[in-house]
Amino acid sequence: MSEGTRSPAAGRRPWVVGVSGASGTPYAAAVLRGLLAAGEDVDLVVSRAARLTLRDETGISFRDGHWSADLARWLALGADGRPGPAVPELARVRYWSAGDLAAGPSSGSYPVRGMVIVPASTASVAGVALGLSKDLLQRAASVTLKERRPLVVVVRETPLNGVTLRQLVALDDAGAVVLPASPAFYAGAVVLQDLVDFVAGRALDALGVPHGLYRRWSGELGGAARAVDHS
Ligand SMILES: Cc1cc2nc3c(=O)[nH]c(=O)nc-3n(C[C@H](O)[C@H](O)[C@H](O)COP(=O)(O)O)c2cc1C
Repeated sequence: MSEGTRSPAAGRRPWVVGVSGASGTPYAAAVLRGLLAAGEDVDLVVSRAARLTLRDETGISFRDGHWSADLARWLALGADGRPGPAVPELARVRYWSAGDLAAGPSSGSYPVRGMVIVPASTASVAGVALGLSKDLLQRAASVTLKERRPLVVVVRETPLNGVTLRQLVALDDAGAVVLPASPAFYAGAVVLQDLVDFVAGRALDALGVPHGLYRRWSGELGGAARAVDHS
């Protein structure tokens, strides 16, 4: 049973955020905080497997019936597992159960801007590449592609086998942005959250959502070392 109301507020055009069962729930938290901080509406789908990674990485049991409280606890955690980040207002979030294949994002006529899968498991990559639609996350991603809306796939696995590589190419061919959860070090990361925010920020860049999550390349070598003050 969905936690969302069936009739969207007039003019509401959310981003669908699909959280699948790859390691990297801090990436999802950072993207969610970034979208909400930018004033965007969000439709959230958390796969069954993602509940396992979330419990493993944060200790939080994500429950359909208590999604708002569980989401607030999750977004309050930094990448190091300690409380820290400011929790944004959650009124812009609509939650849909991953098993709810009648949910809004399962139809192309439901108004959304696009979708990000973060983190994206190789199973979700396969499901979307093959059009399996085995749950709402995969169905919403297939709908996003068929409607020619932006789809960003923040895949997290290493190493990658040939099957997944071919499926990632298929997603690219279909119009998705394949964005590996691959932090860079030129932005002067000091703490773990900086590396997470770099990936989240690149995902928001791909969606066209403004943010200040990482320090952009300025065209000058040495910036990263200057940002990390070792004195
Ligand atoms: C703790 C944990 C970590 C995992 N990490 C990854 C990962 O980094 N990448 C991946 O592709 N699968 C990972 N998996 C396996 C996926 O959860 C599994 O393939 C699952 O079927 C994905 O389902 P979903 O795509 O519906 O969420 C992990 C599983 C667990 C329990």
